[in-house]
Amino acid sequence: MASGTSRDVIRRGLWVLGRAIREQPRIFAVAVAGSVLFGGLVIASAYVVGAVVGDVVVPAVEAGEVGTGTVALAAVALFGISVLRVVGIFGRRLGAGYMQFRLQAAYRRRVTRRYLDLPLAWHHRNATGTLLSNANSDVEAAWYPIAPLPFAVGTLVMLVGAVGSLFVTDWALALVGLAVFPALFALNVVYSRRMAPRQARAQRLRAEVSGIAHESFDGALVVKTMGREAQETARFAERARELRDSLIAVGRLRGVFDPLLETLPSLGTLAVLVVGTVRLRQGAITVTELVSVAFLFTVLAFPVRAIGWVLAELPRSVAGWDRVSRVLDATGEMPYGEVTLDDAGPATLAFDGVHFGYEPAEAHLPGTSVLGEVAFTVPAGRTVALVGPTGAGKSTIASLAVRLVDPDAGTVTLDGVDVRRLTAASLASTAALVAQVPFVFDDTVRANISLDRPGIDDEDVWAALRLAEADGFVAALPDGLDTMVGERGTSLSGGQRQRLTLARALAGRPRLLVLDDATSAVDPRVEAAILAGLRAPAPGQPAAASILVVAYRRATIALADEVIYLEHGRVLARGTHAELLATVPGYVDLVTAYEQAEQERAENRTYDEVAPLPTGLEIEVDR
Ligand SMILES: Nc1ncnc2c1ncn2[C@@H]1O[C@H](COP(=O)(O)OP(=O)(O)O)[C@@H](O)[C@H]1O
Ligand SMILES: [Mg+2]
Repeated sequence: MASGTSRDVIRRGLWVLGRAIREQPRIFAVAVAGSVLFGGLVIASAYVVGAVVGDVVVPAVEAGEVGTGTVALAAVALFGISVLRVVGIFGRRLGAGYMQFRLQAAYRRRVTRRYLDLPLAWHHRNATGTLLSNANSDVEAAWYPIAPLPFAVGTLVMLVGAVGSLFVTDWALALVGLAVFPALFALNVVYSRRMAPRQARAQRLRAEVSGIAHESFDGALVVKTMGREAQETARFAERARELRDSLIAVGRLRGVFDPLLETLPSLGTLAVLVVGTVRLRQGAITVTELVSVAFLFTVLAFPVRAIGWVLAELPRSVAGWDRVSRVLDATGEMPYGEVTLDDAGPATLAFDGVHFGYEPAEAHLPGTSVLGEVAFTVPAGRTVALVGPTGAGKSTIASLAVRLVDPDAGTVTLDGVDVRRLTAASLASTAALVAQVPFVFDDTVRANISLDRPGIDDEDVWAALRLAEADGFVAALPDGLDTMVGERGTSLSGGQRQRLTLARALAGRPRLLVLDDATSAVDPRVEAAILAGLRAPAPGQPAAASILVVAYRRATIALADEVIYLEHGRVLARGTHAELLATVPGYVDLVTAYEQAEQERAENRTYDEVAPLPTGLEIEVDR
């Protein structure tokens, strides 16, 4: 990505900087003003020092005395310059800092916001570790050169001023300046061109190292139970070694060029003294002028480095920017519509001629067709069970129902309105999906359930917990609703986590509830009780929600008004549980096989003490 010629990298790097300036023009102006003030004073200080030497020190040495007035004047001039320089440095540093960190914050926000807008398919193609480094180190890298940028711009102005003042002083000395300053500049350019590929490589390896680290922490359970610690460590060590070597290569280059960049101005000073002495003898310049110019070369050496800092950071900046803009420019987000549904009573969900296939991992591979001609309805207030072997497409249907993905053909409607025409808010308040793998935030039980949604008070939270059969264990927690559940809910059992996420969905009072095997780790009797509770609302109340439930257990399926039997992405049969048992052999086999697996499992261990490990038929690896 960041390869190509190094000339290209500098051109693109300058373009990135231009973008930064366009985004923060006022702060940049303040910083550059401070830097130009500083640069002007550096030149001025050289001439004041020259004047002090020529008009104070030399006469003093020759005559043995000086007027106090002259000394006082020199002191005041030097002091004044120092004070103003402080002001310049302050303005430059403050401006550069503000600019750099504001840009970082703004782009972190944009990148993370973008992650949430991009469709699930995009997330499936991109590793979490990479996303983390996009939002962190890549954003930082993109704006690294901002810190020295105002200094560098001020220095350029100062160099022009310096050469100008050299010409006013003496053409021969000006020629020395014309030789040394461009040479310094050229050296900086060569330096950063050499640096380009090394920095890009280091930045890429940084992302890979963080990706591997993230994956092995995330999969710690698998790594440990499968005894893969050594291999996993080796895999990480390999990349960490590559990163180390690549950073050392960066350091080595710096080691060669830094001394060169230091030496060149000193050689300039030497040349000034040689040429200057000749010119002094010829009477072309005064001692004051010679000292001023020699001093000018000495004080210029440091600011000129700022140009090198900017150029040296450009490759990394371009590499970071490429990775950040890949996220910002990613397409495929699903635009929402304008329609808002009425918030009254349970919703009707309908699938009509739905076809769906996942995008291939790489563009040249063929996509897979997962669903074909799927059509069914969940009438308002009814419960429909979705039954089928692993890989039949049940989870895909659940994702389509809440519009995590859109169908390739056909429509998914809620209350007769195509879900693509609904606003994001209307969709979220109408339909709620509870996935098989529960996600719990590292926060209190209360926060995990209310998610800070407006209008959800403790009473609502408890009501949701009761419906999810979770009020009992939450009440028994040491701090009740205020108990922290730990990262990813590790302090809870699998079944408890599932019931918390169910309560979270219920607290939003959805009008359609989609349960994708959402209670698999809960005891079967409790699962049936939950579903019965959801179906039969409090006396005198209309049914709260329509339910689409992916289920296996006979007791659960039997509660549904209708069962949709799915195989290979096609609806093979539909009817009541009893009807299907009587007419569909595949259905009978599946339900029986699952029951056997359930029994074995129940004999071996109790439910809520284990995480949702693969059971019987259902061996799935959900991301
Ligand atoms: N993110 C994905 N990318 C590609 N293929 C997928 C993805 N998720 C599921 N599939 C495939 O789609 C088919 C249906 O999967 P899924 O809907 O999860 O089935 P079920 O929930 O019934 O087990 C399977 O063949 C599965 O391999
Ligand atoms: Mg599934």
